[in-house]
Amino acid sequence: SYRIAVFASGQGSNFQALADAAARNELGGAEIVLLVCDKPMAPVVARAEQAGIEVFLFQPKDYPSREDYEREIAAELTKRSVDLIVLAGYMRLLTSVLVEPYAGQMINIHPSLLPAFPGVRAIEQAYNYGVKLTGATVHLVDGGMDTGPIIAQRTVTIEEGEGIASIEERIHGIEQCMYPKVVSWFAQGLIQIEGRKVTVLHAPSSKA
Ligand code: GAR
Repeated sequence: SYRIAVFASGQGSNFQALADAAARNELGGAEIVLLVCDKPMAPVVARAEQAGIEVFLFQPKDYPSREDYEREIAAELTKRSVDLIVLAGYMRLLTSVLVEPYAGQMINIHPSLLPAFPGVRAIEQAYNYGVKLTGATVHLVDGGMDTGPIIAQRTVTIEEGEGIASIEERIHGIEQCMYPKVVSWFAQGLIQIEGRKVTVLHAPSSKA
């Protein structure tokens, strides 16, 4: 089977959407074999336990460097023959220890239309900037901050006078819909990568 590991640090609404899709057999046959989490108190941990998914928990402060904990994560991934790393609100930069071996096999979801508003608090950045159109992006992870090749994007049109809470809710809604679809494309071998150009090969439903 196609085996994925989800990395998350927080609420885990995207993790939940992926776990629910897997349970409904809507993840292209992919199986979530591990949650990697850097925050023992994060709500996502309870979600994984509820779904019967193994958790690798760690605290960055227990390690001398990022490379040190990433080597441990890499060993956990190798042990479980993970095919794809799915970052879902994992709020840490990755080093070459994980980025290099998983080049083309690690994806991230970001709550803006990249390359606009990379980094933290992207929804707030876009709102404060006054954009009329925003959205969410799924991209491959490279060494930069939200810079890797784009796989899928969906838009949210900001209504006149709309508040940030409402925009946030709508962006989270499209994320939870698009991320399981993108993972299912990977699991079905429909993703072709040529430099920055990512193509989704013919699929019954290839719209995120
Ligand atoms: C999501 O909106 C995701 O796009 C964002 O964190 C949220 C996690 O929510 N990620 C980033 O901002 C990455 N730079 P969740 O824990 O409920 O899935």
